[in-house]
Order: sequence, then C-alpha cells, then structure tokens
Amino acid sequence: MLTRLVNIHKLLQIREGSEAYSPVKGAAMAHLPCIDNAWLCLKDGKIDSYGSMDALPELNPDTTIDTSGRLVLPAWNDSHTHLVFAGTRENEFVDRIKGLSYQEIAARGGGILNSAQKLKNTSEDALYASAAQRLESLIATGTGAIEIKSGYGLDVDNELKMLRVIKRLQENYSLPVCATLLAAHAYPMEYKENKPAYIRYLINELIPEAAHQKLATYIDVFCEDGFFSVADTQMLLEAGIKYGLKPKIHANQLGYSGGVQVGVQYNAISVDHLEHVGQAEIDALLPSNTVPTVLPAAAFFLALPYQPARKMIDAGMPVCIASDYNPGSCPTGNIPFLHTIACTQLKMTPEEAINATTLNGAAAMELLQETGSITVGKRANLIITKPMPSVALIPYQFGQNIVEKVLINGKAVW
Ligand code: NIG
Ligand code: FE
Repeated sequence: MLTRLVNIHKLLQIREGSEAYSPVKGAAMAHLPCIDNAWLCLKDGKIDSYGSMDALPELNPDTTIDTSGRLVLPAWNDSHTHLVFAGTRENEFVDRIKGLSYQEIAARGGGILNSAQKLKNTSEDALYASAAQRLESLIATGTGAIEIKSGYGLDVDNELKMLRVIKRLQENYSLPVCATLLAAHAYPMEYKENKPAYIRYLINELIPEAAHQKLATYIDVFCEDGFFSVADTQMLLEAGIKYGLKPKIHANQLGYSGGVQVGVQYNAISVDHLEHVGQAEIDALLPSNTVPTVLPAAAFFLALPYQPARKMIDAGMPVCIASDYNPGSCPTGNIPFLHTIACTQLKMTPEEAINATTLNGAAAMELLQETGSITVGKRANLIITKPMPSVALIPYQFGQNIVEKVLINGKAVW
C-alpha cells in the first residue's frame, strides 16, 4: 500500500542519521528542520521517502493526498497521562477557586483518593469504554503515541484492573501505548496512620504481580512532601527495578522534593512535572540520560508556578512537554493547547514546543526508533494541519482545532 502526500506547504521535523534517534537538546531545540513545498511517500504504514516537489519522482501510488497550504509533521508523543479514570472532579476545581489548595483537598480525602473511590465502584468494561473514548478524541487532536499510568487503584485488584484496561487499549488501537505502574500515587485511607505498611504491600505484593503479569513497563512514584519521600521512592524503585520495571518519576511539582535527584540516581527514563527546578536539579540532570518533562497544563490548571523551561533549555537540556491528562490537575490532553501555554508562560518558541512534543516525547517513552520525526523507516504517525502559512499558527490559534487529518501507521483515522 503506497500513499503519497503532495504539495505539502511545509514538511516539518525531518531528521536522518543519529539526529532521528536522540532527543534534541538546548539551543538545537529552536531549530525545526523543514522542506518547503514537499512530497512524502508512505509504504506499509511507514515513512518511505520524501523530497521537494521540484523533483517529484514518477510513481503510481494507491492513494494521493493533496495537502496544498498545509503543514505536515509527526504526530504528538504524549509521555505522561492518567487517561484511565472514573468520573470527573469539578467540585474540587470549584473548591480551589474558593481558596482551598490541592494539598488541602487531598488531606481531607479528595484528590487522588476521590478518584480511587470512584474507580473502585466502576467496572473494568466501563473504565475501558471511557478511556477508549478519551483516547479517540486525543488521536483526533494529533496524538500518535501515549503513556498511561495506573494510580487510582491503590490496591492489587484495582491497580491490576487499571493496567488491564491499558493493555486492552494497546491491543485495540494501533498507536504505541506505554503502561506505567503508579501505585505509589497516594496512601489509601486505611494506611494513613501506617504508611510504611502500604509501601511494604506495594513492594511485596503489587509490584511483583504487575511485573509477573507483564502489565507494565515503567514504575512511577509521586515523590513529594506529604506523599512519598526520597527514601520511600528509593525502596519502591529498587523493588521495581528488581522486577524489570524502569523508573519514571513525578518530581518537584509542589516543592523541592529531591525527586529529580533520586530519579537521576536510578537512571529514570524521565522526571516529570518540574515546577520547582533550581541549579541543583539542573546540575543533576545535565550529565544524565533522564528526560526532563514539563507538564505546563497542570501548572496552569492548579495555578502553580510554571516550570522554568527557558532556563532548562538555555542550560542545554532536552526538555519534553507532556499533558498529564487526569481528572484532578489537568482534564485535557490537547497538545496544541500545551504549546500555547509553553509559548506564552514558559517562554518557549513554537519550534521548541514542537521538538518537545515530538522527538523529546518519543525519548521519554523510549520510542525514538519508531516515532517523533519524519525519518525513513519510522511509523507514518502524522498530522496534516488545516491550511496555515507558518508553524507559529499552531500555538497562536489556541482553542481552535488546528488538525485536519491524523494518520496512524499511514491510515487516516480522522
Ligand atoms: O500528575 N501529581 C500527582 N498526580 C497527578 C494528579 C492526580 C490527581 O489529582 O488525580 C498529577 O498531577
Ligand atoms: Fe501526573
């Protein structure tokens, strides 16, 4: 099956050689390699070849798509979501408007525990149906690979239930879906007075079982004051690593938790959130392979200080942006909206925002061999935008759908 896109106004994020397989760092993030007036050929779901319309090879494709006036780029890679959940939490949103903090709401049994209660009362099929619907609407806005966490189960049965829902998404949808065990997300009520017992329960029962059933690739810990300490995180990561789970950490959202340093210490694939990053965190991350992932829409929605992404990029780091889609701190997974926040609040350029959500998003899910750039042999997971003259229109036109078509493995799904 051969598909050819012709008259592409701008074919963006073209990378060949080693550039296609590593995250883009520092000053290089400002550059988005591009061919104006291009063609792109897709074969059997993969990127086959591309070039300038000035030299369009003779071919007999099965399908030709005329993309005059449109941008074509790799689909977004969203490396941090909590897409599987039961019910919304708009009452907490209103409580925050009235002055309560995220931590105060959590302390009185709201927040993650509220979602855990709802999830306990929801069947696996109902959870799957709602998650599938969310996934489809994300694909429609250009998401072409996604990571999804557990973390609203907080016991063996319900965490495994969440992970099985993620597995069903992996089986039924053709985009890459990565699964992360985040049982160390909050302490269930019954463990409030005996937190070490919950950690022992995770280490002795849940982590081995999730790994044994091959339901997760990664292990995540909410390393934050009032949630899981650095010492707790170390114990949990060591248990995960013993069973082959690789670390990805919720770090430094609410304060300087030490989460970044412990992530680097354990070779985390990524450390995520990063509202609180100073020189010590930058010094720890710079020599490491851990991808610093900022979640600007969570900071926006909780009205927290924004992540110092400008400082991080200027220091030479490969900043990744992800959504954090979840019912508490970010009820959206719309990546173009994140671009707008990244540009207006984090002072990133439109090109940096695209690098952060394509190549660097792929790096934060270990998917660089498959996605993140227009590279011969990578998956044809692509966005065709509505007609627009320049890249800056993507973050500029916020609140509007800039995506006209999404291709997953070369097939139009929207
Ligand atoms: O990444 N910070 C911790 N976990 C989620 C929020 C989960 C929730 O409030 O339901 C986050 O923001
Ligand atoms: Fe999160």
